[in-house]
Parts: sequence; structure tokens; C-alpha cells
Amino acid sequence: MSITYKITTDGITPDRLNGFFVGWEKVPSPEVLLRILNGSDHVVLAQDSEVVVGFIAGNTDGVISAYIPLIEVLPAYQKQGIGRELLTRMLRNFEHIYMVDLMCDEDVEGFYEKFGFIKTSAMMLRHYDKQNCT
Ligand SMILES: CC(C)(COP(=O)(O)OP(=O)(O)OC[C@H]1O[C@@H](n2cnc3c(N)ncnc32)[C@H](O)[C@@H]1OP(=O)(O)O)[C@@H](O)C(=O)NCCC(=O)NCCS
Repeated sequence: MSITYKITTDGITPDRLNGFFVGWEKVPSPEVLLRILNGSDHVVLAQDSEVVVGFIAGNTDGVISAYIPLIEVLPAYQKQGIGRELLTRMLRNFEHIYMVDLMCDEDVEGFYEKFGFIKTSAMMLRHYDKQNCT
């Protein structure tokens, strides 16, 4: 398997973005995922041939803070180093930024700790009826 990485959505169509948001109650469609990626300051996509098998999105004010709202690798491609590559490439964009934040479930804390992230307390507001962005 040969995975390639790209930092734009050029040439990416929704039919190449299937299978993400595993476990979400209201799953955003591939079309919505493409809108999310297009609206993000930075993206990295992992592709197996033409199919996107992993992605990360990041946003920043370019001065003091950055936020990583989403990273996901398709289940069949997990535990093969793709998530590490996605996050490593994203963090290069934020090397000069003081605050780099994200929120995650407890079961992936160990993944982020490998990159120097530390646990903190956080607050969040969620409009669950809007989860699939329709
Ligand atoms: C979290 C996720 C992106 C990791 O991607 P991945 O491709 O499986 O990760 P990698 O294979 O690159 O793993 C890199 C390292 O992190 C470790 N790791 C991966 N997932 C881990 C987890 N859940 N907990 C602890 N360590 C983990 C790996 O063992 C590996 O360690 P090593 O380099 O010392 O061998 C992937 O599991 C995923 O998409 N999960 C579902 C979506 C999700 O939870 N996203 C995060 C929401 S905030």
C-alpha cells in the first residue's frame, strides 16, 4: 500500500471522501466534509490511489492561536502511521504559534501525548441538532 499526502483539496470530489465520522450520531455527508476541508486554513489529506483514507483540518489566526478540530483515519488504515504523518505535517504549520489546541475523547489522549499535547480542562458548546451540518 502506497499512501500519498497532499495539502490541498484540488481535484478532490465528494465520492473520494466516504466512510468518515465513524460513530457520529448525525454523520456529515461527503459533500459537507469537502466544504469543511475547503473552509479550513490548513488541510492534509492521505490518499490510497485516488481515495482519501485520512484527513486533518486546522485553523489559525496566524498570530497566537491554532485549533485542530478534526483528524480521522479510516478504520482499515489505522495503526499504520497515517495519523502520525497527518498530525506531524499539520503541526509544521503551527511551529511559530503559542497555543495549539484540540479536544478529544479519552481513548485517543495517548496518541496526542506522543506529540507533546497535555491534558487540561476545557469548555465546549455543542448544537447536536446541527451535528451533520444540514
Ligand atoms: C486517532 C487516529 C487519528 C490515529 O490515527 P492512526 O493512523 O491510527 O495512528 P498512527 O498509526 O499514526 O499512530 C501513531 C502513534 O500513536 C499511537 N496511537 C494511535 N492511536 C492511539 C490511541 N487511540 N491511543 C494511544 N496511542 C495511539 C500508535 O500506537 C503510534 O505509536 P508509535 O508511533 O509509538 O508506534 C485514528 O485512530 C482515528 O482516526 N480515530 C478515529 C477518529 C478520532 O478519534 N479522531 C480524533 C478525534 S479528536
